[in-house]
Amino acid sequence: MVLHYVVLLLSLCTFFSSISSHQHEHDPSIISTIEQFSGYSIHEPTSISSLSVDAQGLQNQIDELSGFSDSPAPSVTRVLYTQKDVLARRYVKNLMGIAGLSVREDAVGNIFGRWDGNEPELAAVATGSHIDAIPYSGKYDGVVGVLGAIEAINVLKRAGFKPRRPLEVILFTSEEPTRFGISCLGSRLLAGGETLANTLKTITDGQNISFLDAARFAGYAKDEDDLSSVFLKKGTYSAFIELHIEQGPILEDEGISIGIVTAIAAPASLRVEFEGNGGHAGAVLMPNRNDAGLAAAELALAVEKHVLESGSIDTVGTVGILELHPGAINSIPSKSHIEIDTRDIDEERRNQVIEKIHQTAIRITKTRGVKLSEFHIINQDPPALSDEAVINAMETATKELNLTSKLMISRAYHDSLFMARVSPMGMIFIPCYKGYSHKPEEFASIKDMSNGVKVLALTLAKLSLQ
Ligand code: GLV
Ligand code: MN
Ligand code: MN
Repeated sequence: MVLHYVVLLLSLCTFFSSISSHQHEHDPSIISTIEQFSGYSIHEPTSISSLSVDAQGLQNQIDELSGFSDSPAPSVTRVLYTQKDVLARRYVKNLMGIAGLSVREDAVGNIFGRWDGNEPELAAVATGSHIDAIPYSGKYDGVVGVLGAIEAINVLKRAGFKPRRPLEVILFTSEEPTRFGISCLGSRLLAGGETLANTLKTITDGQNISFLDAARFAGYAKDEDDLSSVFLKKGTYSAFIELHIEQGPILEDEGISIGIVTAIAAPASLRVEFEGNGGHAGAVLMPNRNDAGLAAAELALAVEKHVLESGSIDTVGTVGILELHPGAINSIPSKSHIEIDTRDIDEERRNQVIEKIHQTAIRITKTRGVKLSEFHIINQDPPALSDEAVINAMETATKELNLTSKLMISRAYHDSLFMARVSPMGMIFIPCYKGYSHKPEEFASIKDMSNGVKVLALTLAKLSLQ
């Protein structure tokens, strides 16, 4: 047992010294003893080249997972706790098992696949992303960071690497806000927050199904008081790295293989409802109307105006949901519901936009004689910075693999935004076709995914030895 431990320790030292550029002299007899016990070759020059990704296998898995969808291919729709989500989760858990990871799930369905290192009591190095997909989106968003992470573990195992710190792959529950309006639900809860845990006990979806019932359907939340059990203790992870498609065009345009994320922009989302009197579309004359639909339309245009007024290309705003009640062509809308997404790399500037939207909504109630029945800030998150040491590890890995890279910010949000609250964080971006995302045309090449998985594997290896 002790001998085994020494052998493993020696072998990981050899692996690390070989993936770093420092070359050491080794006594050939020690090398052959290690090889004999470990069953794999540890010759230095083979270490980087032995990081071989089964890229076609990864593509096949991505294609198979995309079949768990509620919309026809090539689009993917996979919404939290639906039958398709449950099947997709089962598929991922099976792959984790095949990779030799021990699988655990928490009360909201965050899934953890763990590879214990030589020192299992140390804080683990974690990686992961999400597999839920917004309506009519593509098959790479999030998925590359989950299936790619499992493949990164396979790469390290095939290369004969033994981690010192444990390595964990995490599948986060519901990064997308589709069903309950809460983005990064799983990672947000992992990062702590009694308020969110309480909100989840009362929240319902558009069909009036409660979060807890939906979670129970999928086999989670068996004990509703249990949601705070999801919170991670600070120090659970020594580092967290997420692999993701860029979702923007920069890497492809510039012909660069790897984006190293330095910061994630600050997202916010708002829910707004107006109420008017409604009425007959023919009989009620224009001066006598208080049209809740037009109030929403006016606010939607004001969102664009206030965003543009910031004068910065980094400020963005979107009205992705606009619903009218009762929704009949010959009925003046008596209620309207809009949801607004606004983001910026500058939190203060984004907050000013939110304030202007609020003031405009109040003004509209006066000019149109409608009631502002709801103005709710669903989330108003600060930006997150990547950790210097994690950035360094990603940069070194990229250089050692002879790949081109660029430091960049993430305009999309990710589970990393919340993991940064409980762990040093970093993100690896790979190019995607024309920067397309959140639509069926989303695409990442096998080569780019393979590069991303290699950088992830090598970064995990380095951080697990620290
Ligand atoms: C994530 O899906 C985002 O909308 O940024
Ligand atoms: Mn997304
Ligand atoms: Mn994503």
